Amino acid sequence: MCGIVGYIGKHAASSILVEGLKQLEYRGYDSAGLALGEKDGIKVLKKTGRVEALASLVQENESKCSVGISHTRWATHGPVTDANAHPHQSWDGKIALVHNGVIENYQSLRTFLEKEGAEFRSQTDSEVLANLIAYYYARVDKDNGKNPLLCAVRESLSQLEGTYGIAVICADQPDEIVGARKGSPLCIGVGSGENLIASDVAAFVGRTQNVVYLDDGQIVHLTREDFNITTIGEKSVDAVISQIDWKIEQAELGSFKHFMEKEIFEQPQALENAMRGRFSDDESTAKFGGLNLDAREWRQVDRMVFCSCGTAWHSCLVAEHFIERYARIPVEVEYASEFRYRNAPLDKNALFFVVSQSGETIDTLEALREAQRKGFRVLGITNGVGATIARESDGGIYQHAGPEIGVASTKAFTSQLLIAGMLSLYLGRMRDLSFGDGREMVRAFKAVPGLISQILDQADQIEKIAERYADYQDFLFLGRQSMFPIALEGALKLKEISYIHAEGYPAGEMKHGPIALISEECPSVVLSPHGDTLKKVMNNIEETRARKGRVIAITSAGKEFPDNAADDIIRIPSAHECIMPILATIPLQLLAYHIACKRGCDVDKPRNLAKSVTVE
Ligand code: AGP
Repeated sequence: MCGIVGYIGKHAASSILVEGLKQLEYRGYDSAGLALGEKDGIKVLKKTGRVEALASLVQENESKCSVGISHTRWATHGPVTDANAHPHQSWDGKIALVHNGVIENYQSLRTFLEKEGAEFRSQTDSEVLANLIAYYYARVDKDNGKNPLLCAVRESLSQLEGTYGIAVICADQPDEIVGARKGSPLCIGVGSGENLIASDVAAFVGRTQNVVYLDDGQIVHLTREDFNITTIGEKSVDAVISQIDWKIEQAELGSFKHFMEKEIFEQPQALENAMRGRFSDDESTAKFGGLNLDAREWRQVDRMVFCSCGTAWHSCLVAEHFIERYARIPVEVEYASEFRYRNAPLDKNALFFVVSQSGETIDTLEALREAQRKGFRVLGITNGVGATIARESDGGIYQHAGPEIGVASTKAFTSQLLIAGMLSLYLGRMRDLSFGDGREMVRAFKAVPGLISQILDQADQIEKIAERYADYQDFLFLGRQSMFPIALEGALKLKEISYIHAEGYPAGEMKHGPIALISEECPSVVLSPHGDTLKKVMNNIEETRARKGRVIAITSAGKEFPDNAADDIIRIPSAHECIMPILATIPLQLLAYHIACKRGCDVDKPRNLAKSVTVE
């Protein structure tokens, strides 16, 4: 949440910052702003609305200044106003700061600073930190050989409770940027004659592939030619430069109207990438390089706990279904935000998995830390290479889905489903899953990209169905077994981007309450794959239609599901059960996408949401 970009180099900073912010807009888009370290003092430009609004302001205020910091905001404290937009400048004009996170003790610090004469222009917690740094900057010993800005930042951070990723510039030290992190991601783009600092590599991948990820409790000092990392306690840190494994073109729209649409259509490739090199045909199993557990250690695992949020949590429910079914290991699925405060009793041989597309979700990260603090080994499934969760977990699996920009997760979800299935195969083959059954699963997984493409070929037909349903205000999504999490995901997708109220339910639960909602005003999307429960689900459809509820069915069944069995039918290929959740997801994504478009919604930037939730 909130995107930070800072630049120090030889080129005009403002356009580089605006371009960087555009790449980070998925982190928040309430307002945007930048601060430039001009020769005659700091100049701040900021505005409510999208980065485009800031871009116009920047054009009207041309500047050649080559040092600056910038921010795109997702409001936490204080409404969306120009004054509350970042950067915040200290009352004496010396310090400008951008901040991502929440300062919990900001009220007491503000009271203290007001007594000391500080004046505040916003209602944000972040302005308190700008003023606190200015307060200490005015008081640090400028002759002790230490960098005064660094000293002031260090002193201020030691007073803070809460989380932060910050970038700071100072009018008296115009050729430097200071950044720091605790709980909110920050990384450095190492260039030639220039350096950048950002919440996410997407902000600078167009300028450099070299990145250094900061850890919590670290401060970085940037100049044009160099950067230096220390801890808040002044210990020096050896920086490890890694290479970003994707290119800026991958994060561009191309011929698509929205990133969500682009990412839906990227799924065949994304899932191909998630599988690459991860099967052993000889052993009829999957293999993963980074789990850091040998077969003997796996045999000792007698329970697994999966923790995550939102869409990733839905993928964990599918993991539960498949791991219990194919590997016979009991699995519990926890909301990361609940787990941390729940103090759940844990079996000593439990193994933890955290799942996160971004790898930066604060609730998931804190759940990971809580489990590790209790002595458990935690593995991570993440898409964000080098993200905090990937770095802090004891091993894990990268999704390799490529950058996901649309706020509504699509390709990351289906790649999580694929990995969940492959993991169940891997664990099953260590236990009781036979060679032949394993081989069937390997074949099924390998067929996924082609089968997804077949469903994507029906996009026009699904768009026409969406047209007929775009004006409803309520929807039910129903599914059984591994289709229940997919029903939840379908409902989440629809509500996120179209603001239609939608609920996901296990189809069998219908009669225990939700059936009361059924009327001609409330259609249902029913996941009806071939298999054991098809007849039961068809009964649910009958019950719904008998009450005048329209039904869109998604089915892989052939003639057992006749054309008149639902109002609208989307037919998907019939395949092994272990890949059916993936196949059933694709029409739901397209349905939600087209309904949102018909309603004129901003699909990639839905109201109130941010892609990466880095504040609690
Ligand atoms: C997905 O469409 C949502 N925007 C959201 O639920 C998301 O899945 C959740 O915030 C978790 O994000 P993560 O996977 O990056 O941890």
